[in-house]
Amino acid sequence: MNAVLSPSSAGAPAWVKNPKLVAWVAEMAALTQPAKIVWCDGSAQESEALCEAMIERGTLKRLNPLLRPNSFLALSDPSDVARVEDRTFICSEKREDAGPTNNWVAPGEMRATLKGLFDGVMRGRTLYVVAFSMGPLGSPIAHIGVELTDSPYVVVNMRLMTRMGRAVYNVLGESGAFVPCMHTVGKPLRAQDADVAWPCNPTKYIVQFPETREIWSFGSGYGGNALLGKKCFALRIASVMGRDEGWLAEHMLILGVENPQGEKHYVAAAFPSACGKTNFAMLIPPAGFEGWKVTTIGDDIAWIKAGTDGRLRAINPEAGYFGVAPGTNVATNPNCMASLARDTLFTNVALTDEGDVWWEGMTDAPPAHLIDWQGQDWTPEIGKATGKKAAHPNARFTVSAINNPVLDADWDNPAGVPISAFIFGGRRSSTVPLVTEARDWVEGVYMAATMGSETTAAAAGEQGVVRRDPFAMLPFCGYNMSDYFAHWLTLGRQLEKSGVALPRIFCVNWFRTDAQGRFLWPGFGENMRVLKWMLDRLAGTANGVEHLLGTTPRFEDLDWQGSSFSREKFERITSIDLAAWRFELGLHGELFDKLSYHLPEELAAFKATLEQRIAA
Ligand code: GTP
Ligand code: SPV
Ligand code: MN
Repeated sequence: MNAVLSPSSAGAPAWVKNPKLVAWVAEMAALTQPAKIVWCDGSAQESEALCEAMIERGTLKRLNPLLRPNSFLALSDPSDVARVEDRTFICSEKREDAGPTNNWVAPGEMRATLKGLFDGVMRGRTLYVVAFSMGPLGSPIAHIGVELTDSPYVVVNMRLMTRMGRAVYNVLGESGAFVPCMHTVGKPLRAQDADVAWPCNPTKYIVQFPETREIWSFGSGYGGNALLGKKCFALRIASVMGRDEGWLAEHMLILGVENPQGEKHYVAAAFPSACGKTNFAMLIPPAGFEGWKVTTIGDDIAWIKAGTDGRLRAINPEAGYFGVAPGTNVATNPNCMASLARDTLFTNVALTDEGDVWWEGMTDAPPAHLIDWQGQDWTPEIGKATGKKAAHPNARFTVSAINNPVLDADWDNPAGVPISAFIFGGRRSSTVPLVTEARDWVEGVYMAATMGSETTAAAAGEQGVVRRDPFAMLPFCGYNMSDYFAHWLTLGRQLEKSGVALPRIFCVNWFRTDAQGRFLWPGFGENMRVLKWMLDRLAGTANGVEHLLGTTPRFEDLDWQGSSFSREKFERITSIDLAAWRFELGLHGELFDKLSYHLPEELAAFKATLEQRIAA
């Protein structure tokens, strides 16, 4: 750490050689007026010192080192627990370039607002300079960002989630480009006041300027609002870079799947927030699938580019997981639980009397006593009487990818991995079958574009409401959604022209329920049966029946070795209810009306074909 401040150098250490960066830091320090500037080197010692300081301030608790070595718990302010989509803005020059699915404010107006909000906002606090690489250091697909933040919690998270610190400055050199990411919790500290454990501000702004590739975030210390490499950079800004440069930035996990003969494929899957990406990326094949291996490249974001051979190759721009804790347990995801055995930062889970963590779904029966995510006593009786959860439904863990026991050998390969299939999936209690294969690229793009999903606790707002979430990118696309569809269609045509096999496109739904609202499909490891059907389709060895929309397997087309799942239940999670689909098509229509500006003609035409099929 280096805490010497002089106005011309902004106290930059000798290993910072980029004058543009130094000048920007000095300018931002002049605006925000921190008590000091710290240029983070990304070392373990630095992170440890920050954690110690946060323990002293009450932001972190150290967990019992015998049960959970080198791990911490943070409890956030109850008002700052998830992404705030209604406070997220895409400030493009033209409103149409943000499109009707994004909040838009003219850049000039937003800059004036931000200038007012950031003026003196870091008084009494430390400004940390956090240089990070999204993607393997020096990879041709990777990009560098620099986050300036007054939150030590953010620094510690960024170290786990990205390649952060000294090594990045070597790549950045004297003239390398970086995306400036400005962050504040929005709570200046006056000398006479004691700090609060989780400083934040009721006013929040999460702002992206796509043309100048800048991010400004005010008022929140939580998750995607504050860890600016993730949704703000790797999706909203990167999707714009991808549009301009001919590649894709997607809300997708990437996994490798190898059969007992050693044949390996990589697939990328887009599910909305809290709809199963982390779990699918770490899947353990069930009984009957001995000799099969699933390995993780990434669990949330994929950057995808055509390689020199024309095939699409993907990297995970991140280096860690910011995953949903509730629902995770040793039965449904032992790999994830093993990843969390040590070196983990937990946020908003409950604390046990032994100094370990607990969340809903971790064990069948909760412990007899806990401290809940708001720091209050919690017992199963209190839970029953008040309905209060011990952990917040969007409680999360932050952990480095290297803790994952099934991390793929190529996860850090700068060249990325070739993608054989894309999978899209929403959380739908009805209507959408377990799995469907698109018959061609346009049908696949249509399925992804019209995907619906029930809202979850990952974003502030009402939960369980079906909304259209095209490509699982509704909150994350940095430009007009119709132009984004067109970008996907163009990519398909280009791949076709270059003569390579197009990745197949599939849609899945793990979440159909019975009349009591219980999941019909066991999910998790059992999803391997669906994945195998996809691979067999690629190999040309699996059957299915054609439907209104795509091809779905019959019971006998899936491998049921080691399973007792009944044909009757299978019918219930794959049935196509025409009345429900007529209603669904109405919702597609509403989406397309909203997106009519620049909506690709192919998609409108495809919808007309679907309407004819349904009428017939
Ligand atoms: P983000 O990090 O918000 O992008 O979420 P994600 O898509 O990575 O979701 P994650 O894998 O963390 O799962 C979210 C919730 O869904 C957890 O409570 C899981 O236990 C649950 N879940 C995941 N996979 C399945 C599944 O196959 N079936 C069922 N029923 N639940 C699942
Ligand atoms: C999501 O909401 O999709 C997440 C969590 O992955 S956050 O980083 O908060 O965006
Ligand atoms: Mn996500």
